[in-house]
Amino acid sequence: MGLIDIHTHIIPGVDDGAKNFEDSLATLKQLSDLGIDTIVATPHRRSSMFEYDEEIVRQNFNKLSNLIAENDLDIKIFLGAEYYFGPDLFDDINRKTVYTLGNSNYILVEFRSLRFTNQDKESLFRVITSGYNLIVAHIERNRFNSDSFSALEYLRDNSALFQCDIMSLSGLWGEQANLFMEELIKRNYVDVISTDVHCRDFEKELLIRGFKRLNDIRSGLKDRCMGESIKKRLKLL
Ligand SMILES: [Fe+2]
Repeated sequence: MGLIDIHTHIIPGVDDGAKNFEDSLATLKQLSDLGIDTIVATPHRRSSMFEYDEEIVRQNFNKLSNLIAENDLDIKIFLGAEYYFGPDLFDDINRKTVYTLGNSNYILVEFRSLRFTNQDKESLFRVITSGYNLIVAHIERNRFNSDSFSALEYLRDNSALFQCDIMSLSGLWGEQANLFMEELIKRNYVDVISTDVHCRDFEKELLIRGFKRLNDIRSGLKDRCMGESIKKRLKLL
């Protein structure tokens, strides 16, 4: 059974990810070669930075799904979003229009920092009591500070899962993110590993190096964080 990648910017023309369908397809082929057969497309949902037009997202997602079939790629694709922890997420929850990962009750959310105010904690509580589980996006890229581990514990106590980017292991986000990710792996804090691809040329080599590093760090890590158990947990089978 193939691997799952729950964090990708593979839909063209909707955020800072793929620029066109050609780039998306080339990336999908590489992901398939790396053993991935299930993908969640997670365009940024952060209106202070990216314009989010639901109709264009759905249109381009459908077109990409058709291209996958036409090109005989062995890939299942689902729609989700990468939320920034802020107004868009809270509004979507209030309106009950949240883009979860596929049809699961998991939401991919990036935080601005691992230092939570009381207001952040209240907002987090609202998300969780609305019936959703959080997957914290690329947690290793949050600036590490003395509060970080207590914030991790706080998130854990609120059932959050932690996602890391595979390309942090090949240095894309600097030495600190690389070391923080390795530390998180050592402490068994990493639940999900994903590519967070943006369909750029330079990523090809970084993905290969990241996958190799993953195998070197700990055997079985790839299956545990990208394999069947994640598909089952998110019911994306
Ligand atoms: Fe992302």
